[in-house]
Amino acid sequence: MKKAVVMLLVVALLAAVLGFTPVRAAGGVVVQMTIGSTKATINFKAVVLDQPPIIENGRTLVPFRFIGEALGAKIGWDPVKKTVSYVLGDKNIVLTIGSITAMVNGVETTLDVAPKILPTGRTVVPVRFISETIGAKVDWNSSTRIVTITMAATLDVGIVLPTKDEPRWIQDETRFNDALKTAGYSAEILFSQGSSAKEKENVEALITKGVKVLILCPQDATAAAASADEARAAGIKVISYDRLIRDTKAVDYYVTFDSIAVGKAQAQYLVDKATGTKNPLYLYAGAATDNNAFLFFEGAWDVLQPKIADGTFVIKNSSQAVALQGKATLTRDEMGKIIGQVTTNWDFTIAKNLAEANLTIAKAADKGNVFILAPNDGTARSIADAFGDDKDVKSYVITGQDAEIPSVQYIIDGKQSMTVLKDVRTLVRDAIAAAVDYLTGKTPEQTTTYNNGKIGVPAKPSVVVTVDKSNVKAALIDSGYYKASEFTGLP
Ligand code: BGC
Repeated sequence: MKKAVVMLLVVALLAAVLGFTPVRAAGGVVVQMTIGSTKATINFKAVVLDQPPIIENGRTLVPFRFIGEALGAKIGWDPVKKTVSYVLGDKNIVLTIGSITAMVNGVETTLDVAPKILPTGRTVVPVRFISETIGAKVDWNSSTRIVTITMAATLDVGIVLPTKDEPRWIQDETRFNDALKTAGYSAEILFSQGSSAKEKENVEALITKGVKVLILCPQDATAAAASADEARAAGIKVISYDRLIRDTKAVDYYVTFDSIAVGKAQAQYLVDKATGTKNPLYLYAGAATDNNAFLFFEGAWDVLQPKIADGTFVIKNSSQAVALQGKATLTRDEMGKIIGQVTTNWDFTIAKNLAEANLTIAKAADKGNVFILAPNDGTARSIADAFGDDKDVKSYVITGQDAEIPSVQYIIDGKQSMTVLKDVRTLVRDAIAAAVDYLTGKTPEQTTTYNNGKIGVPAKPSVVVTVDKSNVKAALIDSGYYKASEFTGLP
């Protein structure tokens, strides 16, 4: 019901813009052709026809292959029977050259005008019959002599996530699927597999499918600007999901956790576990292409820097951080220098290699009971393994975030100290609520803005929760986030 109303609004808007009354159909395509011209457009992009549309007995005939392909139908040609066929969804249409008798799903239908092969050898078919039978709306403008065929889209929301290779984003996929079952809107989730090029392809595929709202978690904050721009140009609302899309005005809303609070929670954990002075501190960061890596680091630095300044911690693996340790607040460029030196690129292998390289250089005296700022769970497990294998490391306290199942098990087993739970159910709920707001002509709730280098993007960040062995059961099992059966040795 809700969905029907929304579609009506969207289609009515399209109608107002294009100047006709469309109907709801499947697909999401607008095709325009001019009588006597080979210039046509599909979704407002120019294409050239091999045969201009013609008028015969007051009916428009168009190239048979073009119209089928433009509407997304499967086309067939039988040279023996001289039949042309179109299959789309549950429709099967067969036309015979020179005959006004057509078959639609096996039932005879009479045409106003017969399909024909022109002296040029090109086959043309009645455009209104094919389009309307498939479920598209045809409009004829007698003054411009333009035929417009519209198939309204059925896909409401497109979601693009970074990679299936990290449990974090599988959590998001699962929670989206759960939430969408009840949302009453159609949506499609695509993964970029760590590639900005793939991400752009995904966005373009969704634009072509006619999504009204794009929920995009960028692989690379700045590279994603081009995709956001394309979506905006197609009239699509762009919601930046978890990670901020940077350096473009084409971001309508940002659905996020409080990422500064994530960094603060990690750092606070280290501070709370440290006693005495000169505790060895190892810093690690996320990918420099991810705006969150800066926010996490900013939050962590805010809490750690005073404790470095007062001698509680001594930084052991970053000359850049040591050079800046007197500064309570860092600029983005300064953070960039440190992150550049201690980045894991959100990659397990890079994290492990970097930790091992740091341990190889460090003297035994720089080890002992160590404190490690690890930016997320995936990298925390790799870094923890490296530190755990070093004979000079007596104990370590290591942070994480995401409450990934393998890390929750590490926490239970005493191999990772803490994680930051970012309840993905909340993020997904917020993202869907924002999308529905846009689909129903409303504006999502905003409590703050995030500067993306071009604009302040409206957002309503969600809270995060520190989880360690002491509250793992209450925070993750009793809350219904995970099932107890997914772990062994729960406290
Ligand atoms: C997300 C984290 C995630 C990391 C690596 C960040 O942008 O906020 O939850 O662990 O990317 O994928």
